[in-house]
Amino acid sequence: MEPHKLFLTILIIPLIIFHTSTPCAAANSKLFREYIGAMFKDVKFSDEPTNPNVDFHFILSFAIDYDGLNSPSPTNGKFNIFWDSTNLSPSHVSSIKSKHPNIKVAVSLGGYTVGSEFAYFKPFSIHSWVSNAVTSLTSIIKTYGLDGIDIDYEHFQADPETFAECIGLLIKTLKKSKVISFASIAPYADDEVQRQYIALWKKYGNIIDYVNFQFYAYDKGTTIPQFLSYFNNQSSNYVGGKVLASFQSDLSRGLTPEHGFFTACKMLKSQEKLHGIFVWCADDSKANGFIHEKQSQEILATH
Ligand SMILES: *[C@@H]1O[C@H](CO)[C@@H](O)[C@H](O)[C@H]1NC(C)=O
Repeated sequence: MEPHKLFLTILIIPLIIFHTSTPCAAANSKLFREYIGAMFKDVKFSDEPTNPNVDFHFILSFAIDYDGLNSPSPTNGKFNIFWDSTNLSPSHVSSIKSKHPNIKVAVSLGGYTVGSEFAYFKPFSIHSWVSNAVTSLTSIIKTYGLDGIDIDYEHFQADPETFAECIGLLIKTLKKSKVISFASIAPYADDEVQRQYIALWKKYGNIIDYVNFQFYAYDKGTTIPQFLSYFNNQSSNYVGGKVLASFQSDLSRGLTPEHGFFTACKMLKSQEKLHGIFVWCADDSKANGFIHEKQSQEILATH
């Protein structure tokens, strides 16, 4: 190779690599998401106000690969329904989606507890877990007419490589067969939880659409500057990810609407970093008429 061509090659390749690996362009979105159905408080999709100018995701909570509430045992990827399926049934899903074309419905996997015990991610092997999960979830998703999955395991009896491979292959397979059109993860600031989810993100972040980071798992009394610094830190942990802002509607933890959550969201919006807002959870919000959900959706809907 002639010297000047070699020089150009050396110059151009890093430019291309640098350019294509720049974290995906910052941009606001109108995505509003809310978990629903974990607490059996009779909440229905139709109880919640829906602004027609947002993209709205209900996230059914939870499907768990455990066998029941009485002395529950893990089932190695065979998922069962643990949300309030009386009030949130297949016909409720089809009815809310037909009335509101901006609504999609997802299912969250895992959760903090099953019955009164921790719900563990505990696969027997990668292959068997993925195979069971694909089969059982495909059936649930088709029966209920769902659009996506959310990953919310919070306790682990497996190493991060196993978690990354199982969840990555599950998402990849369900997307390839067009059973789902989107997937999200729901980590929070805990060393072991972050170790697991960051390993997943490093290998499969390109097929994960949203990061439902549980900012409400930070202390009660979180201030606006603290919230913004947590947000920036997590955006760098999940590089290129659409990290969503979040609050807990019983107002027990994190930065709450009363203490400046919406101010923080507007600041993120002015920096083109508001990829959406999600709330835990509709079951609790029903009591106050979803006032903070209305406010969240207004912020997302307006320019
Ligand atoms: C940022 O995130 C990392 C990884 O979870 C954590 O170890 C660190 O303490 C965080 N820093 C701040 C300032 O929150």
